[in-house]
Amino acid sequence: MTEKSDHPEPTGQADKQATDGKVVLNFGCGDTKMEDAINVDHIKLPNVDMVFDFEKFPYPFESNSVDEIHMYFVLEHLFDHLNVIKELHRILKRRGMLYIRVPHGSGMYGQWGEFTHYRGYGWHSFDIFKADNKRAYYTDVRFKIKSRVKYFLTYPYDWYQYNTWVPHWEKYWFSPLIKLWVNFIQSLIDLNPEFFERFWCYYVGGAAEVYVELEKV
Ligand SMILES: C[S@@+](CC[C@H](N)C(=O)[O-])C[C@H]1O[C@@H](n2cnc3c(N)ncnc32)[C@H](O)[C@@H]1O
Repeated sequence: MTEKSDHPEPTGQADKQATDGKVVLNFGCGDTKMEDAINVDHIKLPNVDMVFDFEKFPYPFESNSVDEIHMYFVLEHLFDHLNVIKELHRILKRRGMLYIRVPHGSGMYGQWGEFTHYRGYGWHSFDIFKADNKRAYYTDVRFKIKSRVKYFLTYPYDWYQYNTWVPHWEKYWFSPLIKLWVNFIQSLIDLNPEFFERFWCYYVGGAAEVYVELEKV
């Protein structure tokens, strides 16, 4: 049986990747395994390499030791998300990359569709980590940030190095129509995500996610 740990001590292979070059972490992997990463979760599923709780600090990694962290649909499960980002920043090397996928706040389906979600996010949610943001005084953690609002969860899927959410509807005859519609709406969102969030997101059922690439500075 799979059970949640009580988080006494982290288990697993913290230095699994160190000898192969880049240290890559798949945080909150669930049942999704990234082959060349250390897969971490607080629930010991078969593919999980290390078990610990992301809300208990510090994580079992040295400061400035990690090249890449992927955190896909995890942050919304964590109450203390500001301190989580601070901790991720600590363990990343300078110029290390943090890739985040989270539910967009307008998406009823993605944001509130799961019992353990605390919140959704917007296009600007991560801007407090930019040096030139007017709310940058909230924290001294700094990243360079590229943020995108994504209309559909499963498509297009070429935004990511690892895609964990594969369309289940691709086998149906109408899937080309869905793709056409998604591409059309996505191109309009990309013109101005802020305008989309403020004025028209609810006319098209809301957006699915915010995808953010953060580079430690
Ligand atoms: C929605 S799943 C995402 C799984 C995978 N990243 C994906 O995109 O398919 C969220 C994962 O975060 C993990 N998680 C939630 N809270 C956590 C915590 N406090 N510490 C570590 N992992 C946590 C859950 O166990 C779950 O596997």
